[in-house]
Amino acid sequence: MARRWRSSDPYPVGASFEDLLEWHLTVWGTNPRCSPHKRHRPWVLRNFATAVHSGLPDGKDETSPDRKLWNWRNGIDLPKLIHDHRILEVLFGDNADLTNWRKDLEDALEAARAAKRKKATGAPRTTFAKTRPIAPPTAYFMGRDEEIATLASRLASATDLGPMLIQGGPGIGKTELTRAIAHQEAVVARFADRRYFVPLDHSVDAESMQHAIMRAVGFEPRYGFAAMLNALREQETLLVLDNLETPWQSQYGPTEEVLAELATIPQVAVLASFRGREAVGGARWHQYALEALPYHSSCDLFCSIAGQKFLSDPLLERFLTALSGNPLAISLVAQRAYGRASLDPLWREWLQNGTRFIEEPQDMGDGITSFAASVDRTFQSHQMTRDALRFLQIATLFPFGLGRREAKIIMGDGAFAAAEAVVRLGLTAEAGHKSGSGVYTYLKVPELILTHVRTFYPINDADQLLVDQFRQTAAALWKDVAACRRATIDEVARFYDAEDDWGP
Ligand SMILES: Nc1ncnc2c1ncn2[C@@H]1O[C@H](COP(=O)(O)OP(=O)(O)OP(=O)(O)O)[C@@H](O)[C@H]1O
Ligand SMILES: [Mg+2]
Repeated sequence: MARRWRSSDPYPVGASFEDLLEWHLTVWGTNPRCSPHKRHRPWVLRNFATAVHSGLPDGKDETSPDRKLWNWRNGIDLPKLIHDHRILEVLFGDNADLTNWRKDLEDALEAARAAKRKKATGAPRTTFAKTRPIAPPTAYFMGRDEEIATLASRLASATDLGPMLIQGGPGIGKTELTRAIAHQEAVVARFADRRYFVPLDHSVDAESMQHAIMRAVGFEPRYGFAAMLNALREQETLLVLDNLETPWQSQYGPTEEVLAELATIPQVAVLASFRGREAVGGARWHQYALEALPYHSSCDLFCSIAGQKFLSDPLLERFLTALSGNPLAISLVAQRAYGRASLDPLWREWLQNGTRFIEEPQDMGDGITSFAASVDRTFQSHQMTRDALRFLQIATLFPFGLGRREAKIIMGDGAFAAAEAVVRLGLTAEAGHKSGSGVYTYLKVPELILTHVRTFYPINDADQLLVDQFRQTAAALWKDVAACRRATIDEVARFYDAEDDWGP
């Protein structure tokens, strides 16, 4: 609201646009025939509004000049550019004595516009506080050369910084991979200190996701997310969104809206990690499904931590197979093996205690946490339906893989959705085995996950009975498979192919 002046108030040097305008109208009655030394009669406000309005080009600004003037005087709105000229004309015309006043009013209007722009676009770039730099991956990081080559080189060279999504099961190394990518030389060269790590594992909705992003980049949240987006346009920025599944799973619509907003800023590159395999929207993602570490890298990782002497341990291969290329589990078991003479006692403990063996959080000072803590977030998520868990429990009795048809015979109609949930949780991918006339589809759940299910979620007696009955029926039909447990996928597939009318 403009200041209400008294008639004796002198010209207010340095006043704001609305205060200056108010002074000219209500104190001095400024018009092209007056002088800076002699007051005129104050303006009748309606006359001034009409005078401004009437000089506009035809067809422009037909509506309520009084209202507009009221808004300008009260700081509710600023004149549009087409009004500027008219306001200056009506107040000062081409009176040379009024040049300074004219200039003051022009400057004040410009300053008011700049302040308004600043408010709309948030604070200037200097409002990015310094934040913690993104941490490098573990010192033992290895085995992801191909992924780095694909993703980091894209990030470093692309002109269109389309968002990237790394998906996979728990503890498979998604976060470490994003850290490794963010520390690649070419990525550092491109984004320098504008590489931010945004932990989202506690962001249970889109709003807290926005706050987490603002916090990570050091942007004052009171300016709002839109202002931050605008400020991010000033320089290329890399945002590593870690555990994006957390906000997405509880609010996927609003979360995708936030992702879509980020995607509209060409200067922002998003690299997200997501536990699971879901079709995430909001942007055109470059998706990358992260698989288990290859055997030789698992071996390298294990022996780098535990000691090179284990390379010749007769149980190493068996143990690494049981750990299914999961770098979190491998690192934890390797820590336990460090300093020991052989793997034998650990292997026995593994057989007896399963993943309980690596359950306790270990203080390794290297970001390694409990295996159960990581994996159990998947088991506790609401995506893990009762049927999905049941599917996994039944799968523990089919170590070569549980086929679509077997699952349906044993579980009934819930089998299809259950298998889909298991895939979406990132625990395994569907595999197909070509056999004779068709493709036998099945899920081969990693041994490590099956061990975890056996350890913490053992199959109940009723389901165990169903599986036994299934086996008896199968065995009666197919003499060679006295127990399907022993059958390889190829054998099972051939069985179904030959027995086409059997089962659903
Ligand atoms: N490529 C790797 N080389 C060596 N160690 C690794 C590698 N990837 C992961 N690790 C180890 O495994 C641990 C877990 O990895 P990470 O946190 O990246 O898994 P994640 O897939 O992000 O798990 P979550 O699903 O819980 O988010 C890391 O702390 C690290 O010790
Ligand atoms: Mg992670």
